Amino acid sequence: MRQGIACSRRGFARGAMAAGSALLMPAWLRAGSIWPRGKKKPVTAAAPQGATGQDSLRAHAAASGLLYGAAVRPDLLDADGMAAAGTTDGYTQLVGAQCGIVVAENAMKWAALRPSADRFDFAQADKLVRFADLMGQQVRGHNLCWHEALPAWFQSAATKGNAQRLLVEHIQTVAGHFRGRIQSWDVVNEAIEPNDGRPDALRKTPWLDLIGPGYIELAFQTAAQADPAAKLVYNDYGIELDTQEQMVKRGQVLLLARRLKARGIPIHAIGVQSHLQADGPQPGQGLLSFIRELAKIGLDVYITEMDVKTTEPPATPDVEDAAVAKVYADYLTMVLEEPNVPAALTWGLINGQSWLNSQHRNSNGIVQRPLPFDDELKPTPAFFALRSVIDRAYVRAPQAAKPGANPAALPDDLYKPFAVPGSPTGQPAKPESQR
Ligand code: XIL
Repeated sequence: MRQGIACSRRGFARGAMAAGSALLMPAWLRAGSIWPRGKKKPVTAAAPQGATGQDSLRAHAAASGLLYGAAVRPDLLDADGMAAAGTTDGYTQLVGAQCGIVVAENAMKWAALRPSADRFDFAQADKLVRFADLMGQQVRGHNLCWHEALPAWFQSAATKGNAQRLLVEHIQTVAGHFRGRIQSWDVVNEAIEPNDGRPDALRKTPWLDLIGPGYIELAFQTAAQADPAAKLVYNDYGIELDTQEQMVKRGQVLLLARRLKARGIPIHAIGVQSHLQADGPQPGQGLLSFIRELAKIGLDVYITEMDVKTTEPPATPDVEDAAVAKVYADYLTMVLEEPNVPAALTWGLINGQSWLNSQHRNSNGIVQRPLPFDDELKPTPAFFALRSVIDRAYVRAPQAAKPGANPAALPDDLYKPFAVPGSPTGQPAKPESQR
């Protein structure tokens, strides 16, 4: 076991939970719960809105210096801006309570932001960022350059003559619009595909076709100029397992990362999407080696889109829940051991809303149960698995406060709802050695 980076828990509480906007937090979140301070609220499957406040994934992650969060659908968030403060909507409350970081499931993709070539529509994306500000949450941007979710007009409008300008203008406008408010941007998404047969393993996409391999560097450089504070991430899937195919792809992602670093391109992390499967091979040593190789070149790894699907019909929903929870537990136990993994997000919060229950439902028609909350907003076994692994993770160095936050200006007791009782400082007791 590797030793964690020493850090003061109090220092972390200042850093991670301090957002100027925390002052604006709604009473239901600020209070954490109606439970008396110092007494741990029992979390049962029957708890309304799942585990809130101090019992949340957000709070437990914060106590370990980690960020936990989820992909969010802003269209499902109650009202807008300040109106969310008084919400009684369960989904809105759940997102506010559970996520220390949020990412738009679709609302920041090209297709959502670009209704036409000459118009940007930030309504849904702005709604999410305003909500996150209100809740003191960090925001991930997803994504600036991808071969999917391109608007219909793109195909006829984009040419070799204008594609470079289109990409640069898009990134300047979008990353510029949110400048200073995004913790990390997925700058380029899913650009590696060894099966496409190129020696550099780049996926054959409209961007590659129209601009050439330099589009990746162009995207990162433009993003760095547009939002110098944001961490810049290359994000991909199918690189978690030690199967032959995934090992090859992972190796190519590593080569891409090394090439970019060697050429001085501003990149800070690799996003490992982590769409996992309960009844199949599990991630292993190869992924750990990958994470450690990235550490050597100064890159972090974000777990960006975790969920766990099932392909064989499970005996019962309980059996499926247990299998899913075990995959979460084993996976995070492994990756959170690595000091350069500061954040983990699930791709949604509520089973019924998962993309796996729409586009990706398998041929057996299995209802997937891939996320930490069920459709009644009660925590699933996956929730408890996630939380207990997060609790066992060593405490990382304090993460940067949300951009613009002024920790010094905030009274100490604002942090209390997020502190977990169990030690004199209100933080959970962990052995000195951090394991
Ligand atoms: C998915 C969304 O969840 C769906 O709602 C949408 O229809 C398609 O995209 N990898 C990614 C995400 O990087 O953007 C994808 O999100 C899931 C796979």
